[in-house]
Parts: sequence; C-alpha cells; structure tokens
Amino acid sequence: MSSKGAWKVAVVPGDGIGPEVLRSALAVLDAAGAKFEQVLVEIGFGRWKRLGLAMADEDLETIKQCDCVLLGAITTPPDPDYRSILLRLRKELDLYANIRPFRSKAIDLIIVRENTEGLYSGLEEVGAEEARTLRVVTRRGSERIAEKACEIAAKKKRLTIVHKSNVLQSDRLFLKTCQAVAMRRGIQSEEMLVDSAAYNLVVNPQRFDVIVTTNLFGDILSDEAAGVVGSLGLCASANVGMNSALFEPIHGSAPDIAGKGIANPLGAIRSAAMMMEWMGETEKATRIEAAVQWALDNDIKTPDLGGGCSTEDVTDAVADYLERP
Ligand code: NAI
Ligand code: MG
Repeated sequence: MSSKGAWKVAVVPGDGIGPEVLRSALAVLDAAGAKFEQVLVEIGFGRWKRLGLAMADEDLETIKQCDCVLLGAITTPPDPDYRSILLRLRKELDLYANIRPFRSKAIDLIIVRENTEGLYSGLEEVGAEEARTLRVVTRRGSERIAEKACEIAAKKKRLTIVHKSNVLQSDRLFLKTCQAVAMRRGIQSEEMLVDSAAYNLVVNPQRFDVIVTTNLFGDILSDEAAGVVGSLGLCASANVGMNSALFEPIHGSAPDIAGKGIANPLGAIRSAAMMMEWMGETEKATRIEAAVQWALDNDIKTPDLGGGCSTEDVTDAVADYLERP
C-alpha cells in the first residue's frame, strides 16, 4: 500500500475482449464500494501493432510502482519477434504462484500452479532441424509454491501433488520437495501422475480440493478444469508474489467474439474479487462472489453458458445486486 494509505492498482485492459470484461470488473468493484487509485497502462498487441512495441520499460516501471495489477487479456501472436508480456510481467514481478479457483456444482478445486520455471523457463535453442526447451525445476521454486499450496490446503482439505516423475527426473525434485513441505506443515497430501489427474478431473472432479503442480501441467489442467466448470469465461486467477500480485481472468483475448458485446464478464469480476481478498477486503470479496452466484442461479448468463444476455446485462445485474440495501 502506498504511503497515503490508498491501494494503487495498475489497470491493464489489453486486447480483444480484455477491455470489455475489465470495464465490467471495474463497474462491479465500484458497486461493491471498493476504493483504490487506478493507473491506466495501455500495453499489449494493439500497442505493438501501432507502435512496434508491446510494453516499454517505462510501462514496466509504472506497473512496479503500483501495489498490484488488474488485467483483462492480452493477445500473444505467433510471431517470433513478439515477447509475451504476461511471461515478462510474471518474471519481472516474480509472481511465482498462479492460483486458480474452480467452483460449480461439479467441482470445488483450487489449482496452484508454479508460475516462473518449468517448461516456461524461456531457455530455448531453436535450430532449423532441432529445437530444445529447457525444463527448470529448483528446490527453492518448488518449496515456495508448496508453501503457498499448503497455506491454501490448510483451509480446504487434501493437497494433490501432480507430476510426471516416472518419466521426468526434474519432477522427482518437485515431488519430493512438495511432500517434505506438506509433511512439515502437517497437511494431508497425495501424489498423482499428470495424465491420471487429467482423467480424474473429468470423471471424478469432486475428489480434488487443492492441486499443486508445475507450470505447463498447471496451464493445461486449469483450462480442463474450466471446461468442467462450464466455460473459460467463468474462471479467475491471481498471480501472486512476495510484494506484488496480478489478477486476471484465465481466458485470453477471444478475437472470435471481441467487439460483439457477448463476452462473459464473470471471470474478470471474480478476479476483481480475488484482488479484494488479497487487499484484506474479505467482506467485499465475499459479497462480489455471492452476487456472481446469484446471477448464475437466476440464469443471467452470456451465450457461452447457453444464455442470451450481453456482457452489459450480466454486469448491470451483478452491480445492481451489490447496490441493493
Ligand atoms: P481464448 O481464451 O481467448 O478463447 C478460447 C475460446 O473461449 C474462444 O472460443 C473464446 O470465444 C472463448 N472465450 C474465452 N473467453 C471467453 C469469455 N469471457 N466469454 C465467452 N467466451 C470466451 O483462447 P485463444 O483463442 O486460444 O487465444 C486468443 C488469444 O488470447 C491468443 O493471442 C492467446 O495468446 C491469448 N491468451 C491470452 C491470455 C491472457 O491474457 N492471460 C490467456 C490465454 C490466451
Ligand atoms: Mg493458459
């Protein structure tokens, strides 16, 4: 928090449906009575197309001077000259834990994904005939993600450590380290191979409470969990470090529906609720979650959930619910 005592939030609308859903998140935060300073930071693919630069060093400095980031979505084109902004932000702010809750009638699970190493190390050698990516697992990286997962599992129930250590030597270090942390903290844990976890997530999702896993596995399993919940558009995430955090829906910029006014804003709204929780505003976070649940229970839904409402309809309904006496 800044010296004045007000939280300073870098607001990054981004590309595609990013600005559409972020507008919703800000409207709902306002309706919930959240007070914070907003610093608009326009970075992303659109900026790259206009100016040949997706994010300047000054933008990064601006973001670093804020307490946290609230982000819509950013397009990452398959262009070798384009460096992913999100990967850069996660690295620069050392946002080592990616926390993704999934809640519906079928599932109540939090995936805790290691966010800085694994196969997303950025260490690559690319030749015409052969390309390599180095998968990095460190004891320190595994320890701190296991600590975070145990902290969350203490409030839930069982911790499942997901890995592929029968094939990948690097995952033995991850598994052993996570097991040691869970043991020391008195958290009940089990281990599961990632392919088995992918299967169980579909056939028996209720068996999971908290999953901790490496970067790529967490990326894939969380989109799978979003499918179990019913839509990518419903799901939120927090990227958390020691001194900073970034909140964003887990979906991307969805170019196929951008500009149509039908993007589901609930993932972005839930990300805003996670930001409230991180700021210690638990009551506001709980009220926003309840308002989202109320909208879903009353079939106020966008087309991805089979409904006929627009982004604005859903946003207004959630905001109105929050403003009721
Ligand atoms: P995507 O998540 O943007 O879209 C996948 C599918 O889900 C699309 O059919 C889309 O219409 C639908 N969808 C996504 N969010 C929705 C919402 N809120 N409401 C209704 N439907 C929704 O993934 P895709 O198409 O693979 O990626 C598009 C771009 O987004 C790419 O450039 C990718 O790199 C980027 N991306 C960015 C992320 C981020 O900013 N954190 C995360 C994932 C992808
Ligand atoms: Mg992903």
